Parts: sequence; C-alpha cells; structure tokens
Amino acid sequence: MSCRIAPSILSADFGHLADDVARLEAGGADWIHVDVMDGRFVPNLSFGAIVIETVRKLTKLPLDVHLMVVEPEGYFDSFAKAGANNLTIHAEVAPHLHRQLARIRELGCGAGVALNPSTPVETVREVAAELDVLLIMTVNPGFGGQSFIATSPDKVRRARALLTETKSRAALEVDGGINRETIAQVWRAGADTFVAGNAVFAAADPRAEIGALRALCTERA
Ligand code: DX5
Ligand code: ZN
Repeated sequence: MSCRIAPSILSADFGHLADDVARLEAGGADWIHVDVMDGRFVPNLSFGAIVIETVRKLTKLPLDVHLMVVEPEGYFDSFAKAGANNLTIHAEVAPHLHRQLARIRELGCGAGVALNPSTPVETVREVAAELDVLLIMTVNPGFGGQSFIATSPDKVRRARALLTETKSRAALEVDGGINRETIAQVWRAGADTFVAGNAVFAAADPRAEIGALRALCTERA
C-alpha cells in the first residue's frame, strides 16, 4: 500500500493561493485537503463553497473537503457543485450517518467520516463498509499548527483493524500535527493518507517537504 499526502490549504497564503496550489501540485501532492470551519462545531471560521470553487479552478487534484460544521447536510449540494471530490463529516454532529453518507455518494462524492480524539472508533462500525474515507483526528480540530496527540497511533491501529474486519476499502486518513517526527508512527499503525498543513507550508521548500514526508512512509512494522 502506498501513502497519499494531502496538504491542507488552511495554512496557505490566501494572497497567493494560485502559487501555493501550483507548488503543491509540483511537489506531488495526491489530494488537496480543504478545511471548512463554521465557528460552531469548532471555535474558528475558515471558508466555504466559494473557496472550494476557486481551488477547483486551480487544480485537477482531488479536493478532500473536511467539514468541521454542525448540520453538515446543509452544505452537501453546494460543495459538490463547487467541485469537492470527498465530503467528510464529523460523527459527533451526524446522528443520521447512514443517510448522510448515502446522500454524499448520491451527489457523486466520496463519503467520509471524521472522529475527534475523544470519539471511539466503534462509532463507525455499522457504516464502515460504505465509507470512502475514515478520518482520525490526531489533534482537536479547529486550528492548524497544533501538536500531535501521542496516543493517536493506538487509535489508528484500532481503526485499521475495524476496516479490515468490516472489509472496508476506505482510505484511513490522519489529520493534525503530522510532520517528519510523527508521520512514520501513524503510517506504521495503518494510516494511508496524511493531511499536513503547517509541516508543508512552514517548510523552507513546501514542494520538497511533500516528498520528504512521503519518503518516511516506508516499511511497516
Ligand atoms: C485541524 C484541521 C487540519 C489542519 C492540519 O482542525 O482539520 O486539517 O489544517 O494542520 P496541521 O498539519 O498544521 O496540524
Ligand atoms: Zn482537516
């Protein structure tokens, strides 16, 4: 299994978004991660459909949209129309996960569920087989540049076991505090898709950093 690197444009320079997206492409990014925050589910506001549409025009790379919002279903149609490829919603604010995931797929998008650090992996057991993405938060969502929670690899291991048991083909994505020091731990635990905001954009050479992160995903234990 090879790894996917999904840089988060939350850490991009929005005055030079086109240059930053071009840099991610040149560096070999697999997906572009788009963090939508509503100031309610998380204590921060970011962006919505207009930015998704803007990024869509800048790249052909898949747009991996992470909805840190309450009542996420209100955004599905406009985000799909704006060009999102994956729509990942938080289990903590999705009481009707099965129906919500079905709706995302109906719109032609990959359906994902994200779990906060305190939310058990078991929460997704009943829908695991229908998932395209299982996103394990490795920080509490809301801000870029936070520190990786040290117990995350154990949770990723349990998530990988659940996906195997349920014969799910979902991507197992991790998000938050992923950098050169932390990526190998979660890769070895079974993650295959890595969001990186600060690590990529604060690097002297963001293009090279994508390759450096990828190079750390080598042998699994
Ligand atoms: C956190 C967001 C992340 C964030 C990652 O709430 O979901 O995607 O941008 O940023 P870093 O890699 O800086 O922790
Ligand atoms: Zn995210």
